[in-house]
Amino acid sequence: MRRPLVMGNWKMNGRRHVAQSLLSAVAAEATTFSGVDVVVCPPHCYLGLAAEQLGDCAGIVCGAQDVSAYGDGAYTGEVSADMARDMGCEFAIIGHSERRTLFGETDGVVAQKFARALAADMTPVLCVGETAEERDAERTREVVLRQIGAVFAVCGANAFDRAVVAYEPVWAIGSGRAASPDEAQAVHRDIRDAVAQQNPEAAASLRILYGGSVKAQNARELFARADIDGGLIGGASLVAGDFVGICRAACSASA
Ligand code: 13P
Repeated sequence: MRRPLVMGNWKMNGRRHVAQSLLSAVAAEATTFSGVDVVVCPPHCYLGLAAEQLGDCAGIVCGAQDVSAYGDGAYTGEVSADMARDMGCEFAIIGHSERRTLFGETDGVVAQKFARALAADMTPVLCVGETAEERDAERTREVVLRQIGAVFAVCGANAFDRAVVAYEPVWAIGSGRAASPDEAQAVHRDIRDAVAQQNPEAAASLRILYGGSVKAQNARELFARADIDGGLIGGASLVAGDFVGICRAACSASA
């Protein structure tokens, strides 16, 4: 049985006081998140604040929204995986579709970042997913498996021994239109099968999250599916009550 994981990706939102009140509201509920791992990913500039505030809060840890493909050095504006780890991040979101589409991250760059997160002793959370056009052309499986394959090519057959995959269909992100549980489950199954071809043990324990318009109302049905091990939450992670509701839905999936 895989332990469910719920991650909040705040993206580029909030201010210091917003981060503080969101963190304290979620932390106040942490003791009720039994059987579930919870991760919050604030913008880099609030990681110190988050680590301090969550310091003695069992059950919630910090993650980074991105890390550099480079190691420390003359890379103005970048944040290395080692720095994120030093700030207390245990997880790092890698290859989010917004990074791929808005900032030109290729499969190769994403794989480098994945490798950097692993080397810094963090758990990389590889985001994969198809655009609306790719979905309409029935290319979802091909796209997602190509994105996974690029990481295997750089990191080897053990790439997913300590990693998470997040299936985030691009058309579902921020659209209010989540994939149906059946649709998501089918892609999650394809992902697990692809990892199993390289490494059956890693595939069995791999947590595959669904992301894209997850709300407290649809979370339970999604998380009940055999290969959906939790969620990567955008908009709803900015509202404490909504995020807590999603964490609770994951608790019932694990019960
Ligand atoms: P929404 O939950 O706002 O659709 O965003 C999903 C996402 O991109 C999480 O990384």
